[in-house]
Order: sequence, then C-alpha cells, then structure tokens
Amino acid sequence: MTGRIIGTGSYVPEQVVTNEDLAKIVDTTDEWIVTRTGIHERRIAVHEGTSEMAAKAARRALEDAGMEAGELDIILLATSSPDNCFPNGACEVQAAIGAKNAVAFDISAACSGFEFALSTVQAFLQAGIYKTALIIGVDCLSKLTDWNDRSTCVLFGDGAGAAVLRAEETGVIHSVMGSDGTKGPVLSCSARTGGNFLNGKRPELGFIYMDGQEVFKFAVKKVPECIQQVLKESGTDIDEVKYFVLHQANYRICESVAKRLKQPLDKVPMNIGSYGNTSGATVPILLDELNRQGKLERGDKIVMAGFGGGLTWGAALVEW
Ligand code: ACO
Repeated sequence: MTGRIIGTGSYVPEQVVTNEDLAKIVDTTDEWIVTRTGIHERRIAVHEGTSEMAAKAARRALEDAGMEAGELDIILLATSSPDNCFPNGACEVQAAIGAKNAVAFDISAACSGFEFALSTVQAFLQAGIYKTALIIGVDCLSKLTDWNDRSTCVLFGDGAGAAVLRAEETGVIHSVMGSDGTKGPVLSCSARTGGNFLNGKRPELGFIYMDGQEVFKFAVKKVPECIQQVLKESGTDIDEVKYFVLHQANYRICESVAKRLKQPLDKVPMNIGSYGNTSGATVPILLDELNRQGKLERGDKIVMAGFGGGLTWGAALVEW
C-alpha cells in the first residue's frame, strides 16, 4: 500500500499587491524584481489568517476527491507562520471542516513543509496505520515580513494548497527528506523572543532574515541532488517524469535545476509570477493548478521538490 493523491485544492487571498505597489513603499523597481525573481505580483492576506486559508484549500481538495471530512484519519498541516503557538493549525482546520475522526498536527519545515508532510503521511499509510489523509502547505509570511526591508519584502506572498491521499496500490513511489541545522542562520525568523516576567518585557515577534545568495547556492545544488536521489533509489529514469513541480522561490532557481537535470524547461511549470514565494504553499498550489488544468493523467509520474529554512529539503516521486 502507498498513499495516492486523489484530490487537490488551493486558496490565495483576493488582495493583489503588484511590484509597482511595493515600489511606493521601498526603494525597488518592477524591473529589478522581475529580472531577479520572475515575480510580477503576489497575494496578501488582509482578512484571513493561516488556518482560514488552509481550511479553504482543504475544502476544495476534499471536494475534488469526492470525500467527506468525516472520512479523514489524519490531517498534517505544514506551516512556518501559524496563527497561534497552540492550538495548532491542523486542529483549527479539523474544527473548521468538521473532520471529527482525524488526528491533527502541524509540521514546521518552512518551504519544504509540504514535502515533509507528504513523506510523513506516506509512512502512516504505507504502514497501514491510517487509510486517508489530508495534507496542507500554508503560509502567511506577510505577517513575518519587514515591509521596510526591500531584500525580502518583494519575494513573498500568502496562500494555501492541500491534497487528499488514500491508501492504494499506486501513488507515492518514493520520497526523501534532508536537513542541515548548521545552516539555520542563513534563513530565519525568530518567534516571540525576549520576553518574560523577570525582565518585564513583552515578547517580540521577529522578521524574516535571509542571506539570499547563500540560499540560492544551496537550492541550485541540493534540489537537483535530492531529485536524482529519489529517482535513483526508486529505479526511475528521469525521462519518465512528466513534470518537476518545484518550490517557487525564484524562476532562476527553477531554470538552473532544469539545466542541471538536463531537462527541458517546459517540464518545470512555474506560477511564481502571479503569487511570489508562498513558502510551504507553492508546491501544492502549483500541483492544484496542473490538476485543474487537466494536465495530469492517471499513470503520469511527477516529482515534487522543496527547499527552505532549517535548512531543509525534500523530494517525492508520485504516480498520478
Ligand atoms: N530592489 C532593488 N534592489 C535590491 C532589492 C530590491 N528589492 N533587493 C536587494 N537589492 C539590491 C541589493 O541591495 C544589492 O545592491 P548592492 O549591489 O548595491 O549592494 C543588489 O540589489 C544585489 O543584491 P543581491 O542580494 O546580490 O541580489 P541577488 O541577485 O542575489 O538576488 C535574491 C537576490 C532574489 C533574493 C536571490 O538571492 C534569491 O532568489 N535567493 C534565493 C531566495 C530563496 O530561494 N529563498 C527561499 C526562501 S524560502 C523559505 O524557506 C522561507
């Protein structure tokens, strides 16, 4: 048995923020942002938080799967921008959608979160512990962004993507995950630090810090490596793969990965231009777009791959 994706869904907030909008608040230009990143605009959550976006994506995934929330055994929500320390976002989604029979918890692996959630539920489904799962990648990085820091504020957007999996004969073929905590400082966001009753201070929420070039170098090396690993360990020829659904952090990273893998760029779909980097949500949003556009047919092989804070990375080979 393995986990097969039987439904996908996504949600992005209505509010569009263009590069021109950002050029009014920081010293930047549309030309700089587009040429360095490929981003034209992003969606920013004004009225909704992380769990609400996640619940909206989850409902759409359940509808696509033709499944009722009560049938779910487990909900894993991957985020690095939860609304609360507790209750966790997965429990909030459980309550919102009425998945009363599911166990629900969060996973924190930044932009690799969706791949980590997929690998984790896969282990439960493969072991026969659970039969149905909902996984969600969601982030609301706009609330962790320093809107005066032009080096980061132009990069991110908010959104959520979800997938429903069921234990079947085919589906997730193989997955790999990796972490390197020694590189944590190159991409970080401290949470609620500095406060306690002895120093009399209230805790402060940190902002995203990123050494862009270090992350770039890490991504263009690690993503092709983990894709090659997942293919090698599963005995799959790279030419059997229809799409490489990669974390949308920068179109130049996607281009570089395609080049290193010696694969045509049309096998690497991108939507970063419309949404920016939605962190843990980029892969499931892109997957949902491909699914709804009818680009995925039963038997197609796709590879999903993510990388991000931790540092973390992961890839999964999936038969549709
Ligand atoms: N507008 C105009 N100029 C800018 C901006 C901006 N928004 N941001 C930075 N600059 C300037 C810098 O100050 C610098 O100026 P200087 O040469 O006078 O010092 C110049 O542009 C070049 O800056 P670099 O940082 O060298 O630009 P680079 O080409 O590396 O591009 C970028 C920056 C886009 C961030 C790139 O490094 C990148 O994409 N890195 C990977 C990011 C990534 O993948 N992040 C994933 C995070 S996911 C997660 O886990 C949350």
